[in-house]
Amino acid sequence: MALLEVENLKIYYFTREGAVKAVDDVSFSVDRDETLGLIGESGCGKTTAVFAIMRFVAPPGRIVGGKIIFDGNDIITMSNEEIRLLRGKGIAMVFQAAQNALNPVMTVGKQITEVILEHERITKEESWERAKRQLELVGIGSERVKNYPHEFSGGMKQRVMIAIATACNPRLLILDEPVTGLDVIVQRQLLTLINKLRKELRLPIIFITHDLSVIAETCGKVAVMYAGKIVEQASTVSLYENPVHPYSQALIRAYPSIKGEKRGLKSIPGAPPRLINPPIGCRFHPRCPYAVNICREEEPIFRKKNGHLVACHSIK
Ligand SMILES: Nc1ncnc2c1ncn2[C@@H]1O[C@H](COP(=O)(O)OP(=O)(O)OP(=O)(O)O)[C@@H](O)[C@H]1O
Ligand SMILES: [Mg+2]
Repeated sequence: MALLEVENLKIYYFTREGAVKAVDDVSFSVDRDETLGLIGESGCGKTTAVFAIMRFVAPPGRIVGGKIIFDGNDIITMSNEEIRLLRGKGIAMVFQAAQNALNPVMTVGKQITEVILEHERITKEESWERAKRQLELVGIGSERVKNYPHEFSGGMKQRVMIAIATACNPRLLILDEPVTGLDVIVQRQLLTLINKLRKELRLPIIFITHDLSVIAETCGKVAVMYAGKIVEQASTVSLYENPVHPYSQALIRAYPSIKGEKRGLKSIPGAPPRLINPPIGCRFHPRCPYAVNICREEEPIFRKKNGHLVACHSIK
């Protein structure tokens, strides 16, 4: 059994206008020693899906179906005490735009020790030693333990967030858009760090991004999301070389390589649908150049093609 198994997960936001089907029947797994990239355009449900893994979904959002099995236990039915332990030592997450979440009036060392002291029975002195070790681990000199967030650049703050997230030795790390908004050189440095942590700590990671080029070196496998659903899952190399789903093909055309110029998703005509009344059949059909009648009528089921799992009617 994999470390994490997400099965048929459904998360809806119940708004006045109707139910937003943000995550609609999504399944994936993460093995020990594996890094999964979760990619897709803004609003396709990436953050919502991982929020459920941390049991952070709150009204108007609700998990309306599915299972999230971590190390044999279903997170959806865990007690609050079990969830507290899970968030401390089981699964850690660096939130989207997390750099801004650092407390501006507290030193970074203090912020790391607070997390450690909440979850571990060790002395204050020991927690400061650990905080320094954590800073070194993420490539920040331990002498900076008494610095305040404003004394760090955006990329360095993101390193601090990773130091906090890994301070209690989690068994799974979730990174939500960890390099978005940073310049390309800083992005590269952070990706190198993430790779180093993955290897040194043997830490499985779920890496979320809307930019396919940044996962090439980090993730062994990828799940491509579109409008609340996964449309294709494959090894990263194989997805790059041979994308099967028309949406994956468009994504790869949009983000040719980490160094190359990014054309962005404007290269796919149209916009993702609203998730209150998503298109019937395949949700991608209004933007798909290969759409035929069945795509407008029937939801495609997953099939295997060249070792990929793909939900598309047009594959043979
Ligand atoms: N609190 C909320 N109330 C209603 N709808 C919401 C709420 N939070 C998110 N949504 C909707 O759920 C869908 C999925 O949002 P989510 O933030 O999970 O997407 P995402 O893939 O992480 O996007 P991004 O790349 O912009 O971070 C979107 O259509 C969004 O508008
Ligand atoms: Mg998000």
